[in-house]
Amino acid sequence: MDSEPELRKLFTGEQIAATVSRLAAEIKRDYLYKNPILIAVLKGSFVFLADLVRQLDFPLEIEFVRISSYGGGMESSGTVRMAPGALSQIKGRHVLVIEDIIDTGLTAAFLLDYLKRRKPASVKLCSLTDKADRRRVLVNIDYRGLTVPDKFIVGYGIDWDEQFRHLPDIYVLGQ
Ligand code: IMP
Ligand code: MG
Repeated sequence: MDSEPELRKLFTGEQIAATVSRLAAEIKRDYLYKNPILIAVLKGSFVFLADLVRQLDFPLEIEFVRISSYGGGMESSGTVRMAPGALSQIKGRHVLVIEDIIDTGLTAAFLLDYLKRRKPASVKLCSLTDKADRRRVLVNIDYRGLTVPDKFIVGYGIDWDEQFRHLPDIYVLGQ
């Protein structure tokens, strides 16, 4: 029989809220008159996005992208699925990608490259968490939230096998 997974609190909801406020202030400073498109990577970023945008009191648009990676071996082939209509809007626009976590960096590197080829005015990356020790490709995180250890984390939108997304705090899963 499976034993209950062990959760150890890493960041409280209060610590997360302070981080979201800091990131929102930085983003507002840079995008106030740019009417940016925020592209949130599903599913993990949905809670972060919801809290973030409610602190961005200026014109902006929101789109979602789902990234499914498959393919064998070391190759990180990814398939980016844009919400209908999202692609045509990117050209000439200021795009800000919203992520929950940057781990190896492969997903973000793929998505940023995909977006840049569609000729936006600018593309930047905002991530709530950064698992920096695991990086395999160089990714510049323009708006960087919390550094997390090389452990599996859950909560605040981030899942393990679709579980734990609803938790208001962030936890390390396992021992
Ligand atoms: P990367 O391509 O290796 O940077 O991984 C990006 C994706 O892997 C994240 O957006 C998450 O969906 C998932 N991921 C990486 N680390 C964790 C974790 O600790 N908990 C849950 N999901 C994770
Ligand atoms: Mg993700």
